Amino acid sequence: MSGFRIAALSAALLFPVMAQAGDLRADANAVFKPVDAASVNAVVKNNPITPAKVELGKKLFFEPRLSKSQIISCNSCHNLGTGGEDSGSTSIGHAWAKGPRRAPTVLNAVFNVAQFWDGRAVDLKAQAKGPVQADVEMNNTPAVVEATLKSMPGYVAEFKAAFPNDANPVSFDNMANAIEAFEATLTTPNAKFDKFLTGDASALNDTEKKGLRLFMDKGCSGCHSGVNVGGNGYFPFGAVAKPDAAILPAADRGRAKVTNSDADAFVFRSAPLRNVALRAPYFHTGSVWTLEEAVDVMAKSQLGATLTPDENAAIVAFLGALTGEQPKVTYPILPARTKDTPRPQ
Ligand code: HEM
Ligand code: HEM
Repeated sequence: MSGFRIAALSAALLFPVMAQAGDLRADANAVFKPVDAASVNAVVKNNPITPAKVELGKKLFFEPRLSKSQIISCNSCHNLGTGGEDSGSTSIGHAWAKGPRRAPTVLNAVFNVAQFWDGRAVDLKAQAKGPVQADVEMNNTPAVVEATLKSMPGYVAEFKAAFPNDANPVSFDNMANAIEAFEATLTTPNAKFDKFLTGDASALNDTEKKGLRLFMDKGCSGCHSGVNVGGNGYFPFGAVAKPDAAILPAADRGRAKVTNSDADAFVFRSAPLRNVALRAPYFHTGSVWTLEEAVDVMAKSQLGATLTPDENAAIVAFLGALTGEQPKVTYPILPARTKDTPRPQ
């Protein structure tokens, strides 16, 4: 066979595969966006991210003395070693109280349209004031938090450095600003999926590509799109068929409580799916322990579809390709308490 014919034959054999990969990538790029760690500066509003703020925010994220018991930190429920969530179903907080919802991940949370399963906090700085005060989480008060932070010279110096133009740098609001700045660094770039989106056709294997195609063609991406593959809109959970009550209990009506509208009953923010393989159990109830089952629940409840085992496996494989580089966080050493530091209660 001549060189020309071999080349022509190879091209004929290869072209459909390449064309398919190209189309898949073009289609995917129309729906999703890669994680771009640098873009957070544009996303975070009214709170310039500086190294001093990030370092302070990291200490506060790991600071158990923000809680009334002084044993619960943000990291207790948003463990950065386990995908930014705790490993139970719904979170356990002050005095062993079990809250009604599972902790969503803090990883890439900066890219979500709003915070919480029902989107009731507009951004991360608004969000951070909630858990410190919530009785089922840290159960503290802004006054005690400020007294605690002001009692430790190490914190006073760090707040001054992080908020140099502020007359009263050690404040509850600035605690939230610093935590937001730290959380904005908790992005997970360079997942296999990001590499595929940005041009490396071989970054996904055939099963993952099949899963991506199914994810778009079956309609998952109608609700899970954008940079976080979700986290960008509100949809009824049980749009086609209500899942069983353990997964979607009648007591939690989701966004209806935020908007006071019956039309929003059982409406939740579509879950962001980046790093989803790292953080079972699933759904706001934390009631489903495998990704395989979560995908089947979604197909049935949101699309009225039954997936074949092969389809399910391909979608699960694709979701696995959404695991990015986890942030490398050095555990901070926190300032020592003084005689003025309030005692735990
Ligand atoms: C939600 C951060 C403490 C449990 C969230 C979210 C963020 C966050 C960013 C929203 C994520 C999203 O919607 O995608 C923090 C910070 C904390 C803290 C900065 C410390 C100041 C805690 C603690 C617990 C906890 C101690 C457990 C006792 C939860 C739960 C939700 C949540 C259950 C979901 C609540 C809902 O949707 O109604 N947190 N968190 N968090 N966090 Fe935390
Ligand atoms: C949650 C995947 C279709 C809206 C989830 C979760 C997964 C998932 C794995 C749980 C994530 C977690 O707990 O962190 C899929 C797949 C789909 C699909 C593979 C296609 C087969 C849809 C569609 C909609 C939707 C079409 C909108 C109509 C939601 C909502 C949640 C969610 C609102 C949060 C549910 C809750 O409150 O617990 N999805 N999804 N999904 N998805 Fe989907």
